[in-house]
Amino acid sequence: MSEAPDLTAVESRRLVLRRLCEDDHAFLLDLLNQPSFVRFIGDRGVRTVEQARKYVRDGPLASYARHGFGLLCVELRRGGAPIGICGLLKRDVLDDPDLGFAFLPDYWGKGYAQEAAQAVLDAARDRLGLRRVAAITQPDNAASIRLLEKLGFVGQDTVGLTEGESELRLLMLAL
Ligand SMILES: CC(C)(COP(=O)(O)OP(=O)(O)OC[C@H]1O[C@@H](n2cnc3c(N)ncnc32)[C@H](O)[C@@H]1OP(=O)(O)O)[C@@H](O)C(=O)NCCC(=O)NCCS
Repeated sequence: MSEAPDLTAVESRRLVLRRLCEDDHAFLLDLLNQPSFVRFIGDRGVRTVEQARKYVRDGPLASYARHGFGLLCVELRRGGAPIGICGLLKRDVLDDPDLGFAFLPDYWGKGYAQEAAQAVLDAARDRLGLRRVAAITQPDNAASIRLLEKLGFVGQDTVGLTEGESELRLLMLAL
């Protein structure tokens, strides 16, 4: 019997990516309310411990159960501090899974986001057999676009996720 595809545990040189759980509420309250997160990803309305727990249940945990992948908690291998989230998402409006990432500002500029994203993409190819991964970003999110282009993503298309919302830039990567 073949095992269901699973991309909920990944390791790299400096990082461990593991499943998010409800006990990550303090870290998520911090990350989801960072001005950078609200500005470039959106306000998830997560202000309390219970709302953070619900975010984990309805978002990452539901995605792991349904797809075998989802946003993961990125921890430093040395010391174990949670520093960001990174993983694949599956949205109804996109044919391919897309790469998502967000890190606490204290950990920007150290190559952690690139390292985490590369590990997820390698596992997407090797474990899930994916041939293509998408990425969507605000057109003015220079840090995100720079990272995506370093990872090899290309494309100038735009896509609207929800009615009335501004168009996002869609990039693609062939694995
Ligand atoms: C997007 C985001 C994750 C990018 O983070 P980042 O730290 O700039 O990305 P990286 O991990 O790739 O770091 C790269 C920088 O670290 C530097 N760096 C330092 N040490 C490094 C190392 N050992 N290896 C690689 N790069 C290193 C690089 O020079 C590079 O700087 P440059 O791009 O100016 O050349 C971050 O800005 C963020 O969390 N933003 C808010 C959320 C968000 O917008 N998410 C994306 C939604 S689509």
